[in-house]
Amino acid sequence: MRKEVLELEKFDLKLNTNLVGRNFIYCEEIDSTNTYLMNRKNNSNTDGTVVLAERQTAGRGRKDRVWYSAKEQNLNFSILLTSKKYFGKNLNLINLASSLAVSQAIENLYQLNTELKWPNDVLIKGKKVCGILLEASSLGSKIDKVVIGIGLNVNQTMFQGEFNLPPTSIKIEANEDIERERLLAEVLNNFEELLEKSISKPDEVLREWKSRCRMIGEKISITENDATKYGIFDDIDENGFLLLKSKDNTIEKIHLGDVSI
Ligand code: BTN
Repeated sequence: MRKEVLELEKFDLKLNTNLVGRNFIYCEEIDSTNTYLMNRKNNSNTDGTVVLAERQTAGRGRKDRVWYSAKEQNLNFSILLTSKKYFGKNLNLINLASSLAVSQAIENLYQLNTELKWPNDVLIKGKKVCGILLEASSLGSKIDKVVIGIGLNVNQTMFQGEFNLPPTSIKIEANEDIERERLLAEVLNNFEELLEKSISKPDEVLREWKSRCRMIGEKISITENDATKYGIFDDIDENGFLLLKSKDNTIEKIHLGDVSI
């Protein structure tokens, strides 16, 4: 089993970004990389900062779920954005751009087909390889920072616990040990490019994202706060919201929720 700490020099050589990951905080152990960046007391306000932890003692998933990940085998990290230009009206696009960045990295490096599940899970053969938790904080009525937490299963091959989707890892699917440094750099390189595109060419980001989402056109159910809605997954609108078509052909805009077929 491959279990080594991340080699920062190796990672740095592959990183082609201007901003994302240039300020890099590496932690052996932390409660949660998202919690760290969301906490004002930590004074980490440099735009594009990336915090990566080899182990999280309180890793968090969406909807207050716990995110478990074996030590030193995966990539658990968070990206901080503080520049207002990124979150004018397209916070949802950042969400979609993040999952797309991971999906492109997996496809380019390992030739594995990935599928995107709204709002931001990355799947391989119907199993979850990556989960993303986007959080934002505001000062007054304005968003002042966004934290994108990415949990990517890389070299872990055994998963214990209860999952709403069966988990997998790149190693399981590619049948080889994966170099985490190269993969991390590729995700961040893609992310920076897609982030810029979400401002200059949002339609392209949406088109790319939708081309990897197989649920569009399917009958789905969406659960949010214990309420379940049924309908057809009609489309994603220009702001990244899911459009749910009901029996009487009315369209409802869904902002968040867990989608099942
Ligand atoms: C989900 O699928 O529910 C989202 C999982 C997000 C996990 C990542 S791991 C790095 C970052 N730190 C956290 O505590 N959570 C995110």
